[in-house]
Amino acid sequence: MSQKKNIIIFDTTLRDGEQSPGASLTIQEKVIIAKQLAKLGVDVIEAGFPIASDGDFEAVTRIAKEVKGPVICGLARTLKKDIDRAWDAVKHAKKPRIHTFIATSDVHLSAKLRKSKEEVKQMVAEAVAYAKSLCKDVEFSPEDAARTDIDYMVEIVRTAIAAGATTINIPDTVGYAEPAEFGRRIAYIFERLPEAKAVVISVHCHDDLGLAVANSLAGVMSGATQVECTINGIGERAGNCSLEEVVMNIRTRSDYFKECTTSINTREIYKTSRLVSNLTGLSVQRNKAIVGLNAFAHEAGIHQHGVITNKQTYEIMNPGDVGWAGDNLVIGKHSGKHAVEETLKEEGYDFTAEQLADIVQKVKDLADKQKTLHREDIMAIATDVIGALDSAEQLVVLDEIAVATGNRREPEATVTLIVGGKKKTGSGKGLGPVDAVNKAIQSVIGKGITLEEYNLKAITGGTDALANVGITVKDSAGVKYRAEAVDGDVIMASAYALVKGINRALAGKKGCGKDAPEEI
Ligand code: KIV
Ligand code: ZN
Repeated sequence: MSQKKNIIIFDTTLRDGEQSPGASLTIQEKVIIAKQLAKLGVDVIEAGFPIASDGDFEAVTRIAKEVKGPVICGLARTLKKDIDRAWDAVKHAKKPRIHTFIATSDVHLSAKLRKSKEEVKQMVAEAVAYAKSLCKDVEFSPEDAARTDIDYMVEIVRTAIAAGATTINIPDTVGYAEPAEFGRRIAYIFERLPEAKAVVISVHCHDDLGLAVANSLAGVMSGATQVECTINGIGERAGNCSLEEVVMNIRTRSDYFKECTTSINTREIYKTSRLVSNLTGLSVQRNKAIVGLNAFAHEAGIHQHGVITNKQTYEIMNPGDVGWAGDNLVIGKHSGKHAVEETLKEEGYDFTAEQLADIVQKVKDLADKQKTLHREDIMAIATDVIGALDSAEQLVVLDEIAVATGNRREPEATVTLIVGGKKKTGSGKGLGPVDAVNKAIQSVIGKGITLEEYNLKAITGGTDALANVGITVKDSAGVKYRAEAVDGDVIMASAYALVKGINRALAGKKGCGKDAPEEI
């Protein structure tokens, strides 16, 4: 029997994924996700872009120190200061990697970099050689490769390999390629460069035309042995190639991807998807392949009958293989700390003893109010507690809130906040009670911070469902901050989320990956 080749799964959830509009993660949240990615069995974790912000540097450093198993990679432009910063963060890992990149398409060269092809080639040679002097594992990406003149791309790849790159990544940065075309581009590298066989050729596709997974798999069919992807396909604009879809294609269609396999423990997929969705606040669409709530639901009677008779009639994958437990764990007022702790550990959460005590207290408070809590509720509460600001960051504290609403009156709210140790009360009227609360808070805070986006989601259950509110506020400089809160009461969850967002804006705290430098 021929030996299958391992397709390297390079996860960039914490770097490209975190660049999703609306996502931002704290350092602790990034570490939690990285630990779960290691359990999932990814080969490489791209932990961040260390030059982008101090928060991102710290997150990459902590992941390099604490997460065992995968290669830990940091992104850097082809600049010495970026490469130094990336190395300073990843050098603590047992298996560190520096990933350096520069754009090579005509439009990027002329409109963004304002550099000639020769100048860029020179930068690639110098940057890769410099990275190699620090780290033996160096990846190079010609950004916007899919729109780069193919012979110039080959020339750049040749230069990077000659300078010491061990992985060459071919990005379709703007999701422009078509599968057969992208596959040919990868095949062309092998045709033109015999030395390409001695390095790893990787693919990195974006989903602007919905083809990121198809293009990545076309790359694999042409000889690429690394796929760059994210959990739930999150990422810039329409997102990146979805990890779970690529992995389950290779596994489910092993008859087609004959020579290929991955080292992913697919039973961890669903759990990882939920964790990333909870911590980033980016929901997974119900009908998303592999991890959507409906992915294994059979609604039509004829399908249900078929599946009962023989699962293979309408099921090409076993739900258990991606970790669908279908469990209905319920936590009530008699469940103890241990049950909560075990549930969270199973779900990949990591917390301090104080955070656990806080989570358990909140679970008990809700259970005392006769709420039956499900796994999703516990995770939402944990996400809320882990994302809580410490007392030094709480410049504004919610003290009291009163709301009056009804069908014959205009909704009205009165809110007392503690600002700088002093109680301040304000009131407001609105279209609904949440709008009134927002106006009341604004009347105390002033016009400098405005609400940009508001999302409300019920976690589980009926009218006693936990409300999860996600908001985005904008400060006077136009910088956006995201915050989330959960509570059994929609109005309270909204008020907590608003106050958390205002505190983040006042502290200028954006999460750790968002200040990526715009230009080289
Ligand atoms: O999409 C892209 O080109 C990237 C590179 C930095 C690899 O994310
Ligand atoms: Zn990308």
